[in-house]
Amino acid sequence: MTEYKIALVGFGGVNRGFAQLVAERNAQWQASLGFTIRIVGVTDLFLGSIVAREGLDAAQLVALPSEKGAFARLPGGHAEAFNENVIKHSGADLIAEATFTNPIDGEPATTFCRWALESGIHVVTTNKGPVALHAAELKALARRNNVAFEYEGAVMSGTPVLRLARQALAGANVQGFEGILNGTSNYVLSQMKNGLAFADAVAQAQQLGYAEADPTADVEGFDVRLKVVILANELLDARLQLSDVACSGISAISAQDIADASANNASWKLIGAAERQADGSVQAQVQARLLPNTHPLAGIGGAINAVTFTTELLGAVTVSGPGAGRIETAFALLSDIVAIHAARGH
Ligand code: HSE
Repeated sequence: MTEYKIALVGFGGVNRGFAQLVAERNAQWQASLGFTIRIVGVTDLFLGSIVAREGLDAAQLVALPSEKGAFARLPGGHAEAFNENVIKHSGADLIAEATFTNPIDGEPATTFCRWALESGIHVVTTNKGPVALHAAELKALARRNNVAFEYEGAVMSGTPVLRLARQALAGANVQGFEGILNGTSNYVLSQMKNGLAFADAVAQAQQLGYAEADPTADVEGFDVRLKVVILANELLDARLQLSDVACSGISAISAQDIADASANNASWKLIGAAERQADGSVQAQVQARLLPNTHPLAGIGGAINAVTFTTELLGAVTVSGPGAGRIETAFALLSDIVAIHAARGH
């Protein structure tokens, strides 16, 4: 029986959701997945940090109030976030990195990933910043240190997309993709169709926990651009940077535009897409598109995401499912650990 010792880096919704899964399901995982999880450290810039090599009580962690320095309330805990100590010296086999996404330079998450990989510690992350901006470097670092760098949750939370395309579609020859890759903007467009004002729909998406800390990233397409770069680089071997992807959002779409679309059996959707060109290059863009209601992505409503891969051998393959949410994204971390466990011959 394998036990993975894990340090949680960032303790917002996603890693708190992961701790909840551990509290509720560890015994079940022993039977169904062949491993259990022991949480040996947690660090969070707001809440502080704690290390306990013998293991922390996951249920107690979940119940911790979201107050500044709250880890100081626990025996051995600190109000300060000793990130480097928790990552390198808690005895963890792997870290679950789920701090905020910084779309400019991917920090501090990228440094957290580097510290772990350099120390021979696996990294599972749901953070788009390090993956969109530094995946090649981090993958090389992981290879050199014979550890894994997994990030299924960076696109469409726990809905299988990256690993599905990389493994199950290997050889089918993916030529491109188009997708609804942001739950907030799709939710906003759906609610506007139901008559809600743009600002009220954004506020609802924030309350439901879909939106980024700054929802501008959701409605102006910047969040989708990160995901398009991740998918294009991963699946089409592109070497895109954010600046290579033309990007616009949904903020200019009016209630009248939505009503006109409905009257014409069409729907506005924020689409992120990339396609391999005849010369081998990859063209990618993020933009609101008016889709006829017969289009497979037109019926994807609410916070649900979907992506259609265009493949040479199978034609179009569409996957849809949650693209955000704390438990849905925490599941992505679990799926990464399952993949690491399988890759190590279990
Ligand atoms: N803010 C994002 C969304 C979260 O609405 O889809 C997941 O990346």
